[in-house]
Amino acid sequence: MASYLQIADDEKGHELDLFCVPRHYENDLDKVIIPHGLIMDRTERLARDIMRDMGGHHIVALCVLKGGYKFFADLLDYIKALNQNSDKSVPLTVDFIRVKSYCNDKSTNNVKVIGGDELSSLSGKDIVETGRTMQTLLSLLSECNPKMVKVVSLLVKRTPRSSGYRPDYIGFEVPDAFLVGYALDYNEYFRDLSHICILNDQAKEKYKV
Ligand code: IMP
Ligand code: MG
Repeated sequence: MASYLQIADDEKGHELDLFCVPRHYENDLDKVIIPHGLIMDRTERLARDIMRDMGGHHIVALCVLKGGYKFFADLLDYIKALNQNSDKSVPLTVDFIRVKSYCNDKSTNNVKVIGGDELSSLSGKDIVETGRTMQTLLSLLSECNPKMVKVVSLLVKRTPRSSGYRPDYIGFEVPDAFLVGYALDYNEYFRDLSHICILNDQAKEKYKV
């Protein structure tokens, strides 16, 4: 079982005023739930755990866009740092895939996948809620018979809607709330926010499509 940092259901988070948040989002957010620095610290450790387990395998790192792009880039930077500062190193190539299933704050049951032309052994993802997106992607990847597939997700949501799917590596387990920031979006907004925050109800209306 993957270990993770648990954010409790009654986690109060941090006041917005204590952090730097873009002016245009100031009235849309409730609390900072995971500050950017903590994301980075946890990601650094995930990189170490992954490299320990990967042995000498060549890694094809597959980024699940758009929400996974920040996590992917930062995770790969830490993996690169390990690769260039230790006696053991593994070649790393990258690929990108785009999936879309959400409208407003709800899953639409329809997972669209675009792109990706190589097999993956490591897949970097933003958040697993029901697990449906990842299960769809995994069944697509299995058609290419990869040697090994490992899934890394920064966040996993504790929710009764979960299918029970768990990634191989997990950054944080988070409460059942809609989270934005660090590339996680609400109808494409809030990717340009460094910290992971809870969206307020007023903002859900404001950015609704
Ligand atoms: P799943 O298929 O239900 O596991 O949902 C995973 C996908 O839904 C993620 O890749 C996100 O795009 C989106 N998603 C689920 N929960 C959140 C959230 O709290 N904030 C932003 N996007 C979310
Ligand atoms: Mg999204």
